[in-house]
Formats: sequence, structure tokens, C-alpha cells
Amino acid sequence: SNPSLLILPGDGIGPEVMAEVRKIIDWFGAKRGLAFDVSEDLVGGAAYDAHGTPLHDDTMARALAVDAVLLGAVGGPKYDNLDFSVKPERGLLRLRKEMDLFSNLRPAQCFDALADFSSLKKDVVAGLDIMIVRELTSGVYFGEPRGIFEEGNERVGVNTQRYTESEIARVAKSAFELAMRRGKKLCSMEKANVMESGILWREVVIEVGKDYPEVELSHMYADNGAMQLVRWPKQFDVIVTDNLFGDLLSDCAAMLTGSLGMLPSASLGAPMANGRPKALYEPVHGSAPDIAGQAKANPIACILSFAMALRYSFDQGAEAARLEAAIQQVLADGVRTADLMGPEGGVPVTTSGMGDAIVKALDAS
Ligand code: NAI
Ligand code: MG
Repeated sequence: SNPSLLILPGDGIGPEVMAEVRKIIDWFGAKRGLAFDVSEDLVGGAAYDAHGTPLHDDTMARALAVDAVLLGAVGGPKYDNLDFSVKPERGLLRLRKEMDLFSNLRPAQCFDALADFSSLKKDVVAGLDIMIVRELTSGVYFGEPRGIFEEGNERVGVNTQRYTESEIARVAKSAFELAMRRGKKLCSMEKANVMESGILWREVVIEVGKDYPEVELSHMYADNGAMQLVRWPKQFDVIVTDNLFGDLLSDCAAMLTGSLGMLPSASLGAPMANGRPKALYEPVHGSAPDIAGQAKANPIACILSFAMALRYSFDQGAEAARLEAAIQQVLADGVRTADLMGPEGGVPVTTSGMGDAIVKALDAS
């Protein structure tokens, strides 16, 4: 049977960018014989409007049954005053939690035609292609005890950085596997100089690394890592780090490459029966209510998220590279949604104009 893909367009520009991904999926089916069993369902505000919950139990069950989930974005002003328990983002959080997606992949890839968009010098970012792997389900955002407590005559805010060996080992393994498919170079970032969890992190990463003798492993204190990322990011291939440091470092790395409309992500869990990890792919951006309904959204982040699905869930690395090359070509031709329009100008297109241009570049590939 065909590999299965559940599409959850969500809210705001989510459905607009997902419509362009559908064109790409159709192209791979028609022209490359890559057929997927695609189903579509509601998440976020759209699910709340239909069912009174941001993620229906049936949708959750389907997400657990498919080979990969592709999500647009959730949220919007219409839902801002809802009770916390039914807010749109709770739908996404439930997906991540029940799929147990502990490994968050955030690529920072610079498309040459957009190198001027970077906040850094062109030669620092041109050709950049690195990947940050962030632990997503543990660490200081979840550790107990947590809370605001009375202590003497004042209050104290408490969070606990806590990692078990197995939590470190599984995300490290996922980073080593990734490094094996890429440049075979992995840099682990923690603060073993001042944190116990950092000492354990380093020990466990070294231990897991014994199974990957081909991968060149290095370690860096995370504060130095932040400096090195903006000084000379091309020294890295894959970076693995914890939840808190990964949150900061991946946002920092994202801005090396320019627009939010260009950034994909993947969140991976434990291997399924077919050996591939449970997986949710989504653009980094949100539902962008300020431009929703105006045909202005850049669909590339969502299309690149599908390229990641091709690579990591469907073992179609060559087809993923074909799609990325088509995007590279379209950008080199100067095709620009509004968010990519720089001082040199370009050929302005709508959301669907960008999707059509990418399909045309695929035809020519
Ligand atoms: P946002 O990412 O939706 O928008 C930030 C800015 O970037 C806006 O000016 C927007 O127009 C622009 N932008 C974002 N994606 C773009 C694209 N593909 N093409 C062109 N321009 C793009 O973040 P914001 O404004 O903070 O949040 C808006 C809503 O989205 C909120 O309800 C928030 O909770 C939700 N959100 C959802 C996320 C998700 O579904 N994973 C992630 C972040 C925010
Ligand atoms: Mg963040």
C-alpha cells in the first residue's frame, strides 16, 4: 500500500500554504510515480469551530496511525479569549505529546539568492546548511518541582532542569542517525561547566557516540555555541542540544537565513513498526492573521516541510533534493512573495503563483 500522510491545514494562512503543498504532492504522484494516501482533517481553531475541541479524538487516532503528519499553523485573534483548555495551540501540544515527539529538527539553510536577507555578511551565510536538533519533551520547561512558592517573607519562582539518561540517549541517537545521513559531524551543546544535567548530557552523548564511530563528535558550551553560530556557522553540520538551549539556538540560527516564510521543521519520535520515526512536519511560522486571506503568504516553509517528510519519513532523499533544487531555481529567477521582496526587487507573485512557479521548475528538472 502507499505511504500515508495526514494533512492538518489548521487556521489563518495554514490552509493557504497547504493548498500549494497539495500541488507539489500531486506533481510527485503524477510525474514521479510517488503516490501517497493523503487524508485531511481539522486542527486548532478550525477543529474548535467544528467540534468544540482543538483536536478531535478521531484526528488524534489518525495521526498515530499514519506514516507522517503535515501541519500548517494554528491560532488567531478569533480564539484568543477561549479557555486555555480549548485554545488552538492545545491541539498542536496534544499531537506532540501523544506522538511523544522528543526530537525537534530545525534546519538553517541559506538559499543563495536570499543571502542578502541574512542579518550577517553574505560570505558567512552563502551555502549554509546546518541542522539543530532540540530535545523537545523534557528539561527545564517540564521538570518538577516547579511553581511560585512562599519562602520566608518573599516568593520564589522555581523551575527544575532535569534529564534522565534515557531522555538524553534517545535524542542523541536521533542526532547521530541524522549526522550519518549528512556530513557525519555532530556538535553537542550544554553547560557541563556549571550544570549537573550538562555533565550527564555530555557523558551520555559520548556513550551513544560509541555506536557511531564514523561521526566526528565535538562538545561546546552552549553560550560559546551561540557566539560561534553567528561568527562562523559553516563550522557546524548537526548540533544537538537540550530543550531550553535548543529553543534559543534554533531561533538564533533561523535568523541567519532570513524570512520566517522559508523555515521548515520536523519533530520526530520513536521508531514505528516500519522502522521510521513517528513524525510531524510543520513550518516554523504561525497562522499570520495580519496577512491571512490576502494571497500574500509564502508557501515555501510548508513546502520545505514536505521535503523533510520525503527525506525522513519516506526515504526519498533524492526527490527531496529535487524539490529543494526547484525552490532554489525559482528564487534564483527572482520570483518573490511579498516577504522576500528586497531592495533589488523581483517578480512579485501571490501564494499560488509561488506554488505554480515551483511546479514549473519541477517540470523542468
Ligand atoms: P506568525 O509566524 O504567524 O507571524 C509573524 C510575522 O511573520 C507576521 O507579520 C506574518 O505576516 C509573517 N509571516 C509568518 N509566516 C509567513 C509566511 N509564510 N509568509 C509571509 N509572511 C509570514 O507569528 P505571530 O504573529 O506571533 O502569531 C500569529 C498566530 O499564530 C497566533 O495565534 C499564534 O499563537 C500562532 N502561532 C502558531 C504557531 C504554530 O501553529 N506552530 C507558531 C507561532 C504562532
Ligand atoms: Mg522559540
